Amino acid sequence: MIEAHQLTKTFKDKKRGVITAVENVSFTCQPGRIYGLLGANGAGKTTTLRLLATLLKPTSGSATVAGHDVVRESQLVRANVGFLAASTALYGRLTAREMIAYFGRLNGMSDDAIRARIKTLADELGMHDFLDRRCDKFSTGMKQKTSIARTLIHDPAVMIFDEPTLGLDVMTARSIVRFVRDCRNRGKTVIYSTHVMSEVEKLCDTIGIIHNGALQAEGTLEQLQQRYGERDMEEVFVKAVGGEAEVNAA
Ligand SMILES: Nc1ncnc2c1ncn2[C@@H]1O[C@H](COP(=O)(O)OP(=O)(O)OP(=O)(O)O)[C@@H](O)[C@H]1O
Ligand SMILES: [Mg+2]
Repeated sequence: MIEAHQLTKTFKDKKRGVITAVENVSFTCQPGRIYGLLGANGAGKTTTLRLLATLLKPTSGSATVAGHDVVRESQLVRANVGFLAASTALYGRLTAREMIAYFGRLNGMSDDAIRARIKTLADELGMHDFLDRRCDKFSTGMKQKTSIARTLIHDPAVMIFDEPTLGLDVMTARSIVRFVRDCRNRGKTVIYSTHVMSEVEKLCDTIGIIHNGALQAEGTLEQLQQRYGERDMEEVFVKAVGGEAEVNAA
């Protein structure tokens, strides 16, 4: 359902020169599976996800998402993807329901379909208490749940989450992790980026460790633990990226 082949993205930056944000990244993720992209700040997670969601064009390499090429068939890819970006703005004057419905209409859904889908999402995410309140008064958790519902209103086959629990309290973070697991169990293809070790341990079927734009290691939790001779995911991560000095330098 997602296949990335040697994806590479470089940026030209006035001060820093040419930056290779993503370098020769290849992986696959099947329906009913969660692929976890684990990396430190600046590792290349968001850039990789933006390439898959067709918000950026690769400098080289290719990817197909839901069977469509991200460059040549970007419209078809977008119709089949829900991309939760790390920073999504909500319109403060709208209620959560109005906000989510607005994105449903943008996706060509009927009013009946939108109503039914909002009910499902509000049940799954625990949103009924604030569904008809204005977004400008929301807590960080309420905003994030609204953003998730808005991103997934069209029930896409492929769901891409960029650090969805960033800044959330433990209980809210857990409810989102549970929601993502339910999406996987309903057969969705899920990519989940994070720098939180416990989340990849609990959630991801395959873990890709990304550092300096490149995949350093990939496997199930058990495979990575075995390869690096460590039980603790944090120790696995540090070894995979080449030691403490490497992490601090990034
Ligand atoms: N539009 C851009 N222009 C120039 N450089 C960029 C751009 N977008 C990303 N970069 C650079 O590419 C590298 C990877 O950034 P990216 O945002 O993909 O990392 P990340 O893993 O998502 O980090 P974080 O955990 O901080 O969100 C960084 O060095 C970043 O500064
Ligand atoms: Mg990021």
